[in-house]
Amino acid sequence: MSARQFLKLLASLVALAICTGAAAAQSSVKIGLILPMTGQQASTGRQIEAAARLFMQQNGTSVAGKTIDLILKDDAGTPDVTKRLAQELIVNDKVAFLAGFGITPSALAVAPLATQAKVPEVVMAAGTSIITQASPYIVRTSFTLPQATVPMAEWALKNGIKKAVTLVSNYGPGLDAEKAFSETLTKGGGQILGNLKVPLANPDFSPFLQKVADLKPDALFVFVPSGSGALFMKQFLERGLDKSGVRLICTGDVTDDDQLNGMGDVALGVVSTHHYSAAHDSPENKAFVEAFKKANNGMRPNFMAVGGYDGMHLIYEALKKTNGATGGDALIGAMKGMAWTSPRGPISIDPETRDIIQNIYVRKVEKVNGELYNVEFETVPNVKDPVKAAKK
Ligand code: PHB
Repeated sequence: MSARQFLKLLASLVALAICTGAAAAQSSVKIGLILPMTGQQASTGRQIEAAARLFMQQNGTSVAGKTIDLILKDDAGTPDVTKRLAQELIVNDKVAFLAGFGITPSALAVAPLATQAKVPEVVMAAGTSIITQASPYIVRTSFTLPQATVPMAEWALKNGIKKAVTLVSNYGPGLDAEKAFSETLTKGGGQILGNLKVPLANPDFSPFLQKVADLKPDALFVFVPSGSGALFMKQFLERGLDKSGVRLICTGDVTDDDQLNGMGDVALGVVSTHHYSAAHDSPENKAFVEAFKKANNGMRPNFMAVGGYDGMHLIYEALKKTNGATGGDALIGAMKGMAWTSPRGPISIDPETRDIIQNIYVRKVEKVNGELYNVEFETVPNVKDPVKAAKK
């Protein structure tokens, strides 16, 4: 090599070193957060965004030497839009994570893109059992409907409920809830008098509630997605179902903390099962509720907020484990089996299914200091998604 050639090589090596050094110093990890900020599911978007921002405020915006860049997109709860936004976030923004997903069809629409691009898809809201099976890059920090519903049917059986009617939103999570409740109740000797399915968009519950009044079950079991509970309760009251002797039981999606306090006394005494209540009695939750309210004009966090908060925790911890390296295989590998104490209680990511394992609580709506809360009175510990557990 001539002296000239050597100098040229040296110069290019120095230039390369400067470039990579600069890139490393500035490098950021982008999280594409896709949520319904408008439309029927807007409360889910509002809650999860607030929780993600709170997490970043409390834990900083730098992890393993990388700056965390949160990019929020509104899909209005429309799966075609979710898919287009995810595509843009992958191709143009080069996000390391996709997160959010307010409803099941949105989470499923993105699954093939997550697989193709090997980008982790952190499901913070949607709850249909099958979602995590749609891509090996999906991991969930919300819950599954069967996980929350089987304990409700078991409680019903132990509490003298023999005949029940189910009323659910007619799509993935509702159908999961209907099946889990009906199968568990009938296996335990109970009887299902009717399975009513209500449209997801702009539901009118009154004709279905009339049917319930005619069937006269011991109990009505309900699932409607977060954001629709108040309308359901209003129509339940207007139809006089509260005085009909039919006991109302539900998943906690109906007595959602975002709306519960505005539902009025019709909600008092309603028993539900779920993974989170703002009234959960632990130091972690007290601190979470206080900080969340302080940062959001007194807004009470609901179960969606906790799914968002824990989703951010999972992302941060995975990055710490990979030392800031991105790539779906390393990140998903780091997430499997991770366990921590959430505001909802102890949780972990099932290494086999990438679904969340968590306590399910039986709760009753009560007035606490003048406000309505889901007060937990029984705990079913470490519940796995029962659909996947049964398949093994
Ligand atoms: C869903 O679409 O998976 C979903 C949405 C809201 C809920 C639960 C499940 O409260």
